[in-house]
Amino acid sequence: MSQVSTSLRRRASQHDWLVKALLSLMKLLAGSLDRLMVFFTSSIMVVVVPRESFNADGLITDHDSSFMNERSFQAAYAKAVASAGADWDIPWRTHVALWAAKSAIDIEGDYVELGTGRAWMFSAICQYLPWNEMSKSLWLCDRFSPFGVDPVTGLPDQTSNPHPCYARSLEATKANFEGLERINFVEGTLPESLQQLEVARISFLHIDLNNSETEIESLRYLWPSIAPGGLILMDDYAYAGYKPQYLAMNALANELGVLVLSLPTGQGLIVKPGLTINDRSPA
Ligand SMILES: C[S@@+](CC[C@H](N)C(=O)[O-])C[C@H]1O[C@@H](n2cnc3c(N)ncnc32)[C@H](O)[C@@H]1O
Repeated sequence: MSQVSTSLRRRASQHDWLVKALLSLMKLLAGSLDRLMVFFTSSIMVVVVPRESFNADGLITDHDSSFMNERSFQAAYAKAVASAGADWDIPWRTHVALWAAKSAIDIEGDYVELGTGRAWMFSAICQYLPWNEMSKSLWLCDRFSPFGVDPVTGLPDQTSNPHPCYARSLEATKANFEGLERINFVEGTLPESLQQLEVARISFLHIDLNNSETEIESLRYLWPSIAPGGLILMDDYAYAGYKPQYLAMNALANELGVLVLSLPTGQGLIVKPGLTINDRSPA
């Protein structure tokens, strides 16, 4: 019996030694893990959180966003906020739309928007451009109804609460263009209402219907009227949560023989090919 207990005690003390060794090793590893975690977290902070960051509307970048300091941009943005009745915090998207509209100035044809709502984008654009000195017309197409649209059927959901981005009424949206000439409002359901457009050529088309089928049918209908070099900007093309629009627009672009530029703002841009130097005309 005593021999057995001596041997057990010996084995137990060997076991103690092993446990102690394992505990020390774990402590050492835990300390190193802590240090490793601190190192990785700070590295991730450096990589993911930029020093001079733009962080809005699903886009974080440390690239130059100093367009936001330009007075012409700020005036256009302020006009958009006043028209919408709220700041939607979409400066980079607005910057892209201002750029596209300005780039289309010398291209033959009018400006058209499919989905105007309260006119955030086009009231900013008309503020940004010397609109009344230009000879283009603007065609704004919408139901001008406050109800949200079912993304599958494209029909207004009259049972929903008024959508905070959609028009309060046609008259309310019209008021955002006071003092501006050659602004036409096409009230009705797209794509059928496109028959009311009296446009020979389009130099800039902005599409923002949040409904892929209507967007596709409308663009297919308008494509022959887009001038060579004309710009088509799609607000929701690559936006998070709008995959059907992305896929449908890519399929149509393929059919039309063009490529869509996917922008980090979620917008998509098409430039219709075929512009020659002789196609450029004064605004
Ligand atoms: C996101 S809002 C447009 C926002 C606008 N581009 C702006 O800058 O303020 C989408 C608009 O598309 C309109 N819409 C959607 N489907 C439509 C359809 N089939 N016919 C007419 N308007 C439609 C809605 O009434 C809504 O005003």
